[in-house]
Amino acid sequence: MLTLAIETSCDETGVALLHSKELFRHELILNLLSSQVNIHQAYGGVVPQLAMREHEKNLPLLTKRALKEVRKRGLTVTDIAYTHTPGLEPALLIGRTFAASLGWALNIPTFPINHLYGHLFSSLLTNKNIVNAKKGLFPAIGLLVSGGHTQLYLITSFTQNNLLGETHDDAAGEAFDKVARLLGYPYPGGPPIEALAKEGRKGALAFPSPMITSKDYSFSFSGLKTAVLYFLQKKKKPLSDRLIADVALAFQEAALSVIVEKTKRALEAYRARSLLLGGGVAANKILQAKLRQMVKKIFPLPALFIPEKKFAGDNAAMIALAHAFSTYSKLSKGKKGHN
Ligand code: KG4
Ligand code: ZN
Repeated sequence: MLTLAIETSCDETGVALLHSKELFRHELILNLLSSQVNIHQAYGGVVPQLAMREHEKNLPLLTKRALKEVRKRGLTVTDIAYTHTPGLEPALLIGRTFAASLGWALNIPTFPINHLYGHLFSSLLTNKNIVNAKKGLFPAIGLLVSGGHTQLYLITSFTQNNLLGETHDDAAGEAFDKVARLLGYPYPGGPPIEALAKEGRKGALAFPSPMITSKDYSFSFSGLKTAVLYFLQKKKKPLSDRLIADVALAFQEAALSVIVEKTKRALEAYRARSLLLGGGVAANKILQAKLRQMVKKIFPLPALFIPEKKFAGDNAAMIALAHAFSTYSKLSKGKKGHN
């Protein structure tokens, strides 16, 4: 099975080729990404109409390169997988329409993929075979932390999951973006906040970790952003470098602590065998370290899967993989004759 995948849910145009032999045997042949971050930076966030225009321009170029590679290798595309939802509607529309046209022109079946499934399994991606994801992955807890989502899932198979809880307002990545802006840094705000926090003094400042004591799996980050805003409004301008670093550290600690704490509770409650991390915020090294430390304290010890940086944010490789997982698990169910 050779999947050509298309991702256009936000501000990255992605086209990937994944060659799959069986459930855990895949080779990522190509993973093309055309980022629009520089274009949106001037506006402090993603502008849907601009994203749409860029996807429209980039998709044919990336697809041409992918099809050239397919021909060079003497292969044939068997499936076209595309991000169907959720995301920015105008951006999604370009991907959906392009996939449908390509499928029609080349006579290849098209498959709509939920973008979140892509993120949930992105930590299982490597360039070559998927090495660590043999049997025994489920039940898994999926932690999805991106610019649009902060969610905890109970995943029981490659095609079944339950949303345990999510943010009531801003997503974790969105909070990083907004706080970075308050501190004078451009979108996306995660990387500068992480870098600034390294220079911050531990314990110099503290912001409350929102909803950390609530017994559910819900999150809320808009109050934390407002707490940072009110704190900064009282300070003399221009803000000193030291204060900026201290605020970045205190904010990051408050945001990440609640994410790690609720993930721990979910792992324990469902006696999960693994934790699958996904989404742009997964690139944060402090979050990764906190999760590594946290899982060690849980018995039985869950396997922790952290996506490589290039697979943490939006990309088409994860869309291809979600499609391959779904196809192979349906095939194996069919063979056994039960679900
Ligand atoms: O998954 P993603 O690429 O796009 C979607 O939102 O679907 O995630 C982007 C988000 C942005 O909000 C960005 O600030 C955040 O991920 N991010 C980070 C880091 N790198 C990216 N947040 C915290 N720390 C990082 N190192
Ligand atoms: Zn995403």
